[in-house]
Amino acid sequence: MILVLNFGSQYLHLIARRVRELGAHSDIMPFDTPFNEIREIKPEGIILSGGPSSVYKKDAPIIDKKILELGIPVLGICYGLQLIAKLAGGKVKPRKKEYGKRILSIKKKSMLLKGLAKKEQVWMSHGDSVLGLPKGFDVIASTDTCRIAAFENNTKKIYGVQFHPEVVHTKNGTKVLKNFVFGICKAEKDWDIGDIAKKLVDEVKQEVGNNAVIMGTSGGVDSTVAAFLIHKAIGEKIHCVFIDHGLIRKNEANEIKNLFEKRLHFKNFYFIDASRIFLKRLKGITDPEKKRKIIGHTFIEVFEKKAKELEKRFPNIRYLGQGTIYPDRIESAQPSRQADKIKSHHNLTLPEKMDLKIIEPIKEFYKDEVRKIGKLIGVPSSVLKRHPFPGPGLAIRILGEITPERIGILREADYIFIEELKKSGYYDKTWQAFAALLPVKTVGVMGDSRTYEYIISLRAVTSKDAMTADWARLPDSLLETISNRIVNEVRGVNRVVYDITQKPPSTIEYE
Ligand code: XMP
Repeated sequence: MILVLNFGSQYLHLIARRVRELGAHSDIMPFDTPFNEIREIKPEGIILSGGPSSVYKKDAPIIDKKILELGIPVLGICYGLQLIAKLAGGKVKPRKKEYGKRILSIKKKSMLLKGLAKKEQVWMSHGDSVLGLPKGFDVIASTDTCRIAAFENNTKKIYGVQFHPEVVHTKNGTKVLKNFVFGICKAEKDWDIGDIAKKLVDEVKQEVGNNAVIMGTSGGVDSTVAAFLIHKAIGEKIHCVFIDHGLIRKNEANEIKNLFEKRLHFKNFYFIDASRIFLKRLKGITDPEKKRKIIGHTFIEVFEKKAKELEKRFPNIRYLGQGTIYPDRIESAQPSRQADKIKSHHNLTLPEKMDLKIIEPIKEFYKDEVRKIGKLIGVPSSVLKRHPFPGPGLAIRILGEITPERIGILREADYIFIEELKKSGYYDKTWQAFAALLPVKTVGVMGDSRTYEYIISLRAVTSKDAMTADWARLPDSLLETISNRIVNEVRGVNRVVYDITQKPPSTIEYE
């Protein structure tokens, strides 16, 4: 296993993902994981991530110097390189900032940079630089503004790069990571999703034994793959609950029933129509945070009630299944163990008093790995390719008050948008797309009459992980078709706009 120590880098998860894509196992731990623990884990290599701090600051995150003496190869990236320099007796100072694409010149032959050309495009993002080289280290690459852009202590197998090999703008960054993981650490190539999927089913079987599992499902990728894995392991001893809060999309209720009952063959699938209670509580509410709170609390209430009823009927229910995935648990912005906060799964946060053990079969995996596991165990590709859909559903896409009329209008408009995206092949090219209803009316003309109706805003974005997003460049002709269809087919709408803002400064959702 390649251990990534987290110093708060925005690219933290990319590092671990790249190593896994190369075929080696990689895990992330806080930078202040005790030395003894690291020694016991015996990683094949250690990567120190980047981070926002400066090594010369009083509260800078540091590691036990003994980690560099373990004989385990270490690679420092950005802040990680500066930290190695400081601990090994070098000098780090604020210097000319470098941000963006730079040209790296190789200065010395090194295993780390094997296979790279004399000049390479790399991605830089730093204000501090290593100015004094520690004893025993050699410079292996420079840029025109940064002399020590990469260094090594070949005897101790300690390396550092000022640039980011994990981001795509470093053209041959994957080669650098590959050289480190396999050339230097000699890590085993044992991260094979095919083998892992089989193992996961066995693990669930062993843990749950003769007990049963209750699980909330949303029809999304994570919860469906997790439920299906559990189903493969324990068969009909999984009880799946879907709560319809009245804010799901057109046809979604039927699709979810079909998926679980007909395609996945779950016997114990419970569809609960709780829309009446949700919509009653949301009446008159316009504040986005209040909407979220009401939906969250009502969700738990409805789920708990169903769970109690099922526990009476099936006393062997001892586990609560969850579709938590790796990035849900490890936040890049919380690098310290003291501050280490495990995020509860945002779709379903259930109170501890339920007295059920949690089972999270995909908690070690990234979304792309979850999709691969899903494919291997037979989850339909329509589910695996589905765009994310937020827990509060259409509530955060109807700005202002939620009324049955507005839900109806949004459902129809959204349906047309998605249908056209699927027809044109653009659904699979975008990360997420949806319609939102703006609670203002504008004047229009239809036939010979004046109209005064709502505006629909279309949002389609491309993204890798929803942390940043760009608006999708959909063809004009496609936008025209969608706009025409919406104003012609959806009563109550006379204007359609296309959202062309990026995240940041906007967010993907509207509330
Ligand atoms: P934003 O709007 O913050 O969204 O750019 C980023 C991603 O998260 C999804 N999202 C949510 N998912 N409950 C969820 O389950 C929520 O309250 C929620 N808010 C946003 C959003 O759809 C996007 O994929």
